[in-house]
Amino acid sequence: MSTFTAPKGTYDLIPPTSAAFLAVRDALAAPLRAAGYGYVETPGFEDVELFARGVGESTDIVTKEMYTLTTKGGSELALRPEGTASVLRAALEANLHKAGNLPVKLWYSGSYYRYERPQKGRYRHFSQVGAEAIGTEDPALDAELILLADQAYRSLGLTGFRILLNSLGDRECRPAYRAALQDFLRGLDLDEETRRRIEINPLRVLDDKRAEVQAQLAGAPLLRDHLCEACRAYHAEVRELLTAQGVAFEDDPRLVRGLDYYTRTTFEFVHDGLGAQSAVGGGGRYDGLSEMIGGPALPSVGWALGVDRTVLALEAEGITLDVPPVTSVYAVPLGEEARKVLFAVVADLRRAGIATDFAYGGRGVKSAMKSAHRSGAWFALVAGGRDLADGVVQLKNMESGEQEPVALDAVVDKLRSRLG
Ligand code: HAM
Repeated sequence: MSTFTAPKGTYDLIPPTSAAFLAVRDALAAPLRAAGYGYVETPGFEDVELFARGVGESTDIVTKEMYTLTTKGGSELALRPEGTASVLRAALEANLHKAGNLPVKLWYSGSYYRYERPQKGRYRHFSQVGAEAIGTEDPALDAELILLADQAYRSLGLTGFRILLNSLGDRECRPAYRAALQDFLRGLDLDEETRRRIEINPLRVLDDKRAEVQAQLAGAPLLRDHLCEACRAYHAEVRELLTAQGVAFEDDPRLVRGLDYYTRTTFEFVHDGLGAQSAVGGGGRYDGLSEMIGGPALPSVGWALGVDRTVLALEAEGITLDVPPVTSVYAVPLGEEARKVLFAVVADLRRAGIATDFAYGGRGVKSAMKSAHRSGAWFALVAGGRDLADGVVQLKNMESGEQEPVALDAVVDKLRSRLG
């Protein structure tokens, strides 16, 4: 081991488990790619102000969890704690919303950073696959995204998750609700910090996990009972579309997300096998975010699914993904001459699209065959001086152990037909 270890709250993805992680990432993105979402990639850092304004000045993410830095040039940057503000910033900057094709549908996959207290399922560096549908107000779009996430999890074989659904209202109805909630909360027996939160962000108090706080919240007014007619109708249609698709969800009138930009539809995918960090994904509508970061009115909706937690959910359900071995063929040269010849055969196989590896380092046949087995290859190609003199290599089926000579110039075709 070296003197250095991965920073606190982070971990490395290394073979062989990294293959499953990659497969999960692909599976989460696949339904998006099949539903008209285009790939977007933004920088790992942004102007700190983008997140302060976008995610919200009073959120934990902005006040406590951002990795911020000042560049030598004096710019104030932050490692991205989430993707939505960045993706919307990028879409606005490229004028994608003006191309006359709304909604702008984008998907992304990458690393995010939050200075959180590390525990199982909660890391300081984590991975998300996300989707944003920008510029359209349509309950079918909200339903589409929830449906696609549901499909993504199910494609991995997951069944132990639940969908929590809520509406957070809009700028018409939320202010009156906020005031009613503040009135209620001010009458409770709460500590100083929570009292301050009542004035800045009262909805977050509903999300307080402490039992003594929750006990007092039993009679708190619910946004559900304060929605304006437009929000009520919108939410009813989202629910109706999901129900018609057979997507089971639970109404959770207390669901408050950790980011301030949400309006109307909000949802979370929770997995019951994960303990405290049970949210495997979440999202919702953010109709005001574009204006908050200086853009035009662009009602939008999106989600992000946590790759790390999805992997943990698979473990919790005892699901092992059937990840095929990356190497199909493993070449084992016996001697210096064979090394050169087989090296060329390996290059030919790779050009033909056959995943092939090679026993480097001039090792003995025993050690090289061990590597061939470990690689998961279906076939080994073994050649020594006598084989080369006959113009052949030995093709060995790794499963059955059967071996047959194949003419050098027929190896690619032979393996192509054998591997289907
Ligand atoms: P979020 O709920 O903050 O939403 O994160 C989405 C998912 O990322 C979580 O459900 C969780 O699975 C994963 N996640 C978050 N923090 C951590 C962590 N510290 N360690 C491991 N996994 C974590 C957002 O980020 C929004 N941008 C989602 C969205 C997109 N809303 C609209 N569009």
